[in-house]
Amino acid sequence: MSTNEELIGREDINDLEAILGITNTDRDEVIHAVKDNAEAIFTWDYEKGQRPALNRLYEKAKVSMWNGETDLPWDTVVDQEKVVAENALANGGFDADVDVAGTPMEHWDELKWLEFGVESQNWMLSQFMHGEQGALVCTAKIVETVPWIDAKYYASTQVMDEARHVEVFAKYLDTKLSGYYPVNAHLKMLLDDIVGDSRWDMTYLGMQIMVEGLALAAFGFMHQMTTEPLLKQLLRYVMSDEARHVAFGVLSLKEFYEQLSDAEMLERQEFAFEAAVRMRDRFMQQEVWERMDVPVKEAIELVMRTPTRQMFQMMLFSKIVPNCKKLGLLDRNDKWLRHRFEEIGVIQFEDWVDTTDEYENFALGNDLAPAGH
Ligand SMILES: [Fe+2]
Ligand SMILES: [Fe+2]
Repeated sequence: MSTNEELIGREDINDLEAILGITNTDRDEVIHAVKDNAEAIFTWDYEKGQRPALNRLYEKAKVSMWNGETDLPWDTVVDQEKVVAENALANGGFDADVDVAGTPMEHWDELKWLEFGVESQNWMLSQFMHGEQGALVCTAKIVETVPWIDAKYYASTQVMDEARHVEVFAKYLDTKLSGYYPVNAHLKMLLDDIVGDSRWDMTYLGMQIMVEGLALAAFGFMHQMTTEPLLKQLLRYVMSDEARHVAFGVLSLKEFYEQLSDAEMLERQEFAFEAAVRMRDRFMQQEVWERMDVPVKEAIELVMRTPTRQMFQMMLFSKIVPNCKKLGLLDRNDKWLRHRFEEIGVIQFEDWVDTTDEYENFALGNDLAPAGH
């Protein structure tokens, strides 16, 4: 069994010093190469529909395509500062639930908080865009590495979906927002690990279950919060695809995991934990605080204590935990992953609905019900 040090490079999960010690030093790089250690697999078994659930998903995907250029109202005028200010106001103001006395933000005026809100949005959307490219690359890898024809078919539709997602986030950043951030170091480490792994199912686990599970929850949160109609619709369209992608992961891995040994399952549990921690680390937005020119550690310590922040942080795991449970990942090997999820405070989602049961609700045209059981 691996130690925390081996899995995430530090013994204490909450060691802020160590988390902030990891930063992106390649800010100007344009090309980033990762060694893909997997074999490309051909199958000569072309019988379609051997896995009926995957076949159904594939047929659905074919008729659910949308066009990022023509289906979204790009002529919407977006006043970013106004939107950011409105959204903050709806939550009681920027510093509603935080006591800034004696902190680096003590003397910030409304304008400075507004600047922070704008940077924060630029950062968030930039990271979504980078994550979407991660999904694009990973799904192309799944087309190559998965041995089942139904899964190759489905994954190929996801490649198209992800291209569209990268495209719309990039366009939104470029034409409606006011700045761009390079990929966050924690997110990059995770994407590198997923792409570099030689085992085909690890791509699914890292991307479809962990990264996309988190994205589905985060997009849902932002979709609910934002008052900006273009972003709202963009997120709604992306979510309709993401729900299928997560379901693809759960359906594929469920079958595969049923026949794995305890030792093999432990490797998957450890990988899920590593991914969970990396994603939690990335949401600290350390680059935004750097850009705001305040001591990063102090600022993050303060923000992490606020109820809104803690709530958001937990909600990010509302899709991941039930899906891990469905895959049998929580309780194998003496409840190894259950204990880790308890440590990071997200186990309470275990009985929420899993994505294979709800993905059809996300189809365009349906009203989205609030997250829950
Ligand atoms: Fe996506
Ligand atoms: Fe996706």
